[in-house]
Amino acid sequence: MITIKDENAIALMRESNRLLGIVHDELAEAIRPGISTAQIDELGESLIRKLGGVPNFKNYNGYPASICVSVNDEVVHGIPREERILKEGDIVSLDAGLIWKGYHSDAARTHGVGSISPEAERLIRDTRNSFFAGIAKAVAGAHLHQISAAIDDYLTDRGYGIVRDLTGHGIGTALHEDPVIPNYRRRMPGPKLKAGMTLAVEPMVTLGRGDVEWLEDDWTVVTADGSWAAHYENTILITPQGRAEILSLGERERQIGIPEF
Ligand code: MF3
Ligand code: CO
Repeated sequence: MITIKDENAIALMRESNRLLGIVHDELAEAIRPGISTAQIDELGESLIRKLGGVPNFKNYNGYPASICVSVNDEVVHGIPREERILKEGDIVSLDAGLIWKGYHSDAARTHGVGSISPEAERLIRDTRNSFFAGIAKAVAGAHLHQISAAIDDYLTDRGYGIVRDLTGHGIGTALHEDPVIPNYRRRMPGPKLKAGMTLAVEPMVTLGRGDVEWLEDDWTVVTADGSWAAHYENTILITPQGRAEILSLGERERQIGIPEF
């Protein structure tokens, strides 16, 4: 069942995600060679709590940290570790979320560590662009899989691999609600989008094929071919008319710029 949020729920979703935008802005500033993935998690958790939120990933199905920190060929759900030190040229995906008065937020960014290869730059930029290509279709009355198809087309045209084993999702009083939001084209149209739906759209993209494997820790998802991967996610609100509202954007993302689709 896809829940429709009323005005009160929408206000709380906005606030939860506004706070998460601040967390991501601050985490972006902390990324530099020499920082450990555990330090990123500690900083993220303390920012979330300082803002009055509760980390929603912590203990979710047993996940042991507040932030997912995934480096290079790790796609998502990397577990922060004291010994995992970022170095110049790496790329790092940060996935974070929080609960504010019962309402969840969820967003992810991929950052370069120091100076990175042009190929890695392009991967990060195009993964981000594919999100905006997708949500250009996220209007009331459209079908959910139009978002999926637009993401797929943007990425496939440019030769990227798309991870198919993981998807976006509805979000609200739970981190994961209906519907499932694939990042690849489906023949069936999927449910009709309605005003008041809140969705986490999150393309996961690779420089190789889209096949993934799970490490022995049962969490870390890596590419099967060792190619590098990027992840970009925001929580959005379907509005009565016109474009979706991006709830988790933050100041830094606005400054990088919103591509037109
Ligand atoms: N942000 C992830 C998602 O989009 C959730 C992380 S799973 C957790 O679904 F266990 F790490 F919380
Ligand atoms: Co998500």
